[in-house]
Amino acid sequence: MIALGIESTAHTLGIGIFDDERMLSNEKKMYVPKFTGIHPRKAAEQHANEFGGLLKAAIGKAGIKPSEIDLVGFAQGPGLGACLKVGVVGAKSLALLLEKPILGVNHCIAHIEISKLYTKTTDPLVVYVSGGNTQIIIKGKDRRYRVLGETLDIGLGNLIDVFGRDMGLERAHGGVIEKMALGGKYVELPYVVKGMDLSFTGLQTEARKKLNGHSQQDMCYSLQETAFSMMTEATERALALTRKRELILCGGVAQNKRLQEMLALMGAEHGARFGVAPNEFNADNGGMIAYTALYLYKLGHRMKMSEAKAIQKFRTDQVEV
Ligand code: FE2
Repeated sequence: MIALGIESTAHTLGIGIFDDERMLSNEKKMYVPKFTGIHPRKAAEQHANEFGGLLKAAIGKAGIKPSEIDLVGFAQGPGLGACLKVGVVGAKSLALLLEKPILGVNHCIAHIEISKLYTKTTDPLVVYVSGGNTQIIIKGKDRRYRVLGETLDIGLGNLIDVFGRDMGLERAHGGVIEKMALGGKYVELPYVVKGMDLSFTGLQTEARKKLNGHSQQDMCYSLQETAFSMMTEATERALALTRKRELILCGGVAQNKRLQEMLALMGAEHGARFGVAPNEFNADNGGMIAYTALYLYKLGHRMKMSEAKAIQKFRTDQVEV
């Protein structure tokens, strides 16, 4: 079976094609605002404008005929309403035109499932970190993912992005801050872990204040060290509690080498193998939606055309996987 997946929850429009074993294509176009966060309407407008071209590119690169597509998957949420709707309309149009089934996929679960595929793990403790989400997750006996701990306010990626904008970076990307942090010295910042939950807003406020009087390098370093130590502590508690033997990191911030290093070290102390998927799949992408849609379809998930709607606050624990 061949599945096409559409991702449009936030700044990335992605279209990927997966057959039973291989990712045939994974094309994307990102909306990149200068000096600001995502403007949902502008991002949605760009996604709509790029949709046709990207669809052609994904199908062309996969080397298939549109009629060979067996399933149309789309990211149903969580995400920005305006952006999600572009994916919903695109998926519905395509499914109706091809007379093929449609299936909405939870974006967070897609990050987890694609990471399990590429890290060859079966029952891992999952650390999911992105702009909007920061969660520590396991799969329960009822086949639903359970959130053991999460941010009580903003996502880890959001903390880093906003800090980048505070420094006046044109493009406040985590990768830029990761490079700036190299060789920095530690400046003390608020550290807030409550059990397996985390809070980043106090850290954000203080880091912003301390940009006055400290170098950007030191502040990038200190922000990362503090936030990632918090993540590692909360994850260690979850690992000790669940005794999982596998630990995976996924979501946009999973691309950060320092965070990978800290979690891998902690995991090793608990006898848990650490894994992270290639960057291509930690950044938002359509390939993970195609893969997860096909995975769920084979498990028996079905969706009526009338059920194909965006769910802006779609929680990870709402789906039986
Ligand atoms: Fe994501």
